[in-house]
Amino acid sequence: MSDPSRESAFVKRETRRAAPPLVPEIRLHLADEAMDLWQATEADLGRTGLPPPFWAFAWAGGQALARHVLDHPEIVRGARVLDFAAGSGLVAIAAALAGAREVVAAEIDPYARAAILINATDNGVTIAAPDVDYLDHGAGGFDVVLAGDVFYERPMAARVEPFLRAAQGAGAAVLFGDPGRAYLPAAGIEPLAVYDVPVPRAIEDRDIRTTRVWRFI
Ligand SMILES: C[S@@+](CC[C@H](N)C(=O)[O-])C[C@H]1O[C@@H](n2cnc3c(N)ncnc32)[C@H](O)[C@@H]1O
Repeated sequence: MSDPSRESAFVKRETRRAAPPLVPEIRLHLADEAMDLWQATEADLGRTGLPPPFWAFAWAGGQALARHVLDHPEIVRGARVLDFAAGSGLVAIAAALAGAREVVAAEIDPYARAAILINATDNGVTIAAPDVDYLDHGAGGFDVVLAGDVFYERPMAARVEPFLRAAQGAGAAVLFGDPGRAYLPAAGIEPLAVYDVPVPRAIEDRDIRTTRVWRFI
């Protein structure tokens, strides 16, 4: 069961503050070693087979999208923004710093929600991180929907693409950052920008991932 004060203490204890290479103006609580933190998460909950601590890394898609939003603040200025699958909250924080009126970070992992709130406070912005699965509820009411690195797993991608397309169909501006993950939609998308994103070799098996910011066409 989720316990926000324990999850918050865990995030602070097991990570250190660092800036993602492509977004040096934002500092996050990030992991040094993926496997160590994964095992610590399982120990903290007394369960095995938990999802990896995605929230403790700034993924290539999120870094590119956050960079793009900070460099083009007109995308979010004055808008109500949803950062879907927010992880550390990097993209949500970028949107808030760029002048969004309100930012909601969507995350189903309670450790991620704890990290998002801590990271938001550290960067001097306010972000909501409700315990809601927006895939079940849709993104109604948001002017802008952002998603960093969400096409890495087939079952999730199969739900995320229609979710994002529905948001766009309802009038939201939808942008997603992706370095060419396995389940990136094969058609009906176009790139808006491209970034060479420094990434941890231990996770990505390379030092740089060429990453695009995409929209649906
Ligand atoms: C690869 S990480 C990307 C995190 C962040 N956007 C970034 O680019 O650094 C994917 C995230 O999606 C989250 N996720 C998976 N299913 C989700 C759902 N239904 N709603 C919200 N987040 C979800 C995971 O918990 C994980 O933190």
